[in-house]
Amino acid sequence: MKILVINGPNLNMLGVREPEIYGKKGYRELVDEIMDFGKSKRIDISVFQSNHEGELVDIIQSSLENKYDGIIINPAAYTHTSVAILDALKAVNLPTIEVHLSEVDKREDFRKISYVSLVALKTISGKGFDGYLEAIECFLNK
Ligand code: DQA
Repeated sequence: MKILVINGPNLNMLGVREPEIYGKKGYRELVDEIMDFGKSKRIDISVFQSNHEGELVDIIQSSLENKYDGIIINPAAYTHTSVAILDALKAVNLPTIEVHLSEVDKREDFRKISYVSLVALKTISGKGFDGYLEAIECFLNK
């Protein structure tokens, strides 16, 4: 199984940005935890991060030619604004799970809107780094 994990803007700032919301662990640790979990489950995982909407669209489009079986995406702030990311996910039509570190539904009203959730099989939020591992498990149990 091949899974593509995509992280949106400012997630590279984990550990520094609002630690009271996102925790003290850094982005490198998130990637390591995902990769180690993938290895333990014998899944081929690639992790990608960008601060740029168009680059996120490009990586979603490339998931077809690279023959991924599924996408795990935390679009970060673009969750609440990006029709382009929604359309790219619709275009590739791969099973997608949406992840958020924080409990978005319990925060500001604008964070309650998610375009990606219109195509996501499932949304996992408020579980920190473990949310990504739970998403991987969901693909394994599918
Ligand atoms: C986030 C929640 C978003 O509202 C926010 O813009 C982020 C991170 C999360 O993982 O909790 O950057 O997606």
